[in-house]
Parts: sequence; C-alpha cells; structure tokens
Amino acid sequence: MKDLPLIHGKRIILRPFDPSDAADYSAWLKDAYLRRMVGESQLTPAEVVSKQEEWASDEKMVEYIITDKASGKPIGDTSVKLEDGKPKFGLMIGDQRYRDGGYGTEAAECLMSYAKGVLGMQELYAEIFPFNTKSISFHEKLKFSKVGTSVDDKNRDCVVYYRNL
Ligand SMILES: CC(C)(COP(=O)(O)OP(=O)(O)OC[C@H]1O[C@@H](n2cnc3c(N)ncnc32)[C@H](O)[C@@H]1OP(=O)(O)O)[C@@H](O)C(=O)NCCC(=O)NCCS
Repeated sequence: MKDLPLIHGKRIILRPFDPSDAADYSAWLKDAYLRRMVGESQLTPAEVVSKQEEWASDEKMVEYIITDKASGKPIGDTSVKLEDGKPKFGLMIGDQRYRDGGYGTEAAECLMSYAKGVLGMQELYAEIFPFNTKSISFHEKLKFSKVGTSVDDKNRDCVVYYRNL
C-alpha cells in the first residue's frame, strides 16, 4: 500500500480514495457526457471500491481524489501512472457543478508539483480522445503540447499530449 500525503491547493485538497467516496464516484459516471470523455463505463459503488483497491495496490499508479476544501466533498480524481515507462496523467472533475471553475487547473498543478518534487518525474503524457476539445484546451493551457496520436488499451484513437515538468 502506498502512503500518499495530502496535497493542499487553495480551494482543493488531494487525498487518497476513501470507500465513503464510492457513491459519489458512481453517481458521476451516470453522466453519459463524462463517460464518453473519459472512456469509462457506469460503475456501481461496489465496483468503484474494487477498482480503487486495484489502483491503490498498483505500485505504478498514484491516484488521488480531488476534494473541495470548503465542503470537504469529493469532486473528481487525478492520477499519474507509469505505462511502458512513460508517466501518464489523467484528471476528471466528476461533479459537473465544479467544471469550468478553475478546480481542474488547481488539481493538475498540485499533482504536477507532487509528480516532479516527490516522485522525481520529469515529464507527463496525456492521452485524450480527439473529440474532447475541452480537455485539449485544458491541457494546452497547462502547457502540454501535441506530440502524436495513439490508440488506448481498448483500441480507441487518442491524441497524445506531453509536457516537461
Ligand atoms: C477537462 C476538465 C478536466 C477541465 O477541468 P475544469 O476544472 O473544468 O477546467 P478549468 O476551469 O480549470 O479550465 C482550464 C482551461 O480548460 C479549458 N476549458 C475549461 N472549460 C472549457 C470549456 N467549457 N470549453 C472549452 N475549454 C474549456 C480552457 O482552456 C480553460 O482555460 P480558461 O478558463 O482560461 O478558458 C474538466 O472539465 C473535466 O473533468 N471534464 C470531463 C472529463 C474529462 O474530459 N477529463 C479529461 C479526460 S482526457
């Protein structure tokens, strides 16, 4: 089990998953738009717990729940995973009321700082579906640049973004 420190931003805190987050996480994935953008299926709360346990025991993956500091509520998640030696970054604001309000940017900055300062990573990659124009602008604003295309583990076309840390 990894010992993940809390990471404090201005309005958010990144913390490890807790089983009490499962109902919210499952509710987020009822949103067809979100599922399409992140390529995920609907998950029951029990399936969320089991997936999170799998991620928590994966030494190549760091997964954080993004919480709203004011309410303490979970609003999304962010992760970095070593895939073929390349650190792959992911982020979703699951609770749509928190999208477009700068929370994603803040969470990404916290995770990037942890990835560089604590994990010693020097770069990050992101695989984004080409139709996810919002995520593309989000990554470009975070100084990621397009470096190519790929197919993900389910053979879906992606564009690959990269940045130095
Ligand atoms: C994409 C996502 C992570 C961005 O996080 P966010 O908190 O909503 O975004 P922010 O408010 O921090 O905005 C940062 C930048 O993202 C882009 N962005 C955000 N909302 C946007 C929108 N509705 N349309 C186009 N670009 C948008 C803009 O470049 C924005 O910068 P600006 O505010 O100066 O215009 C979030 O909206 C989300 O989780 N979407 C659904 C899941 C997803 O697509 N995850 C990424 C999978 S690769």
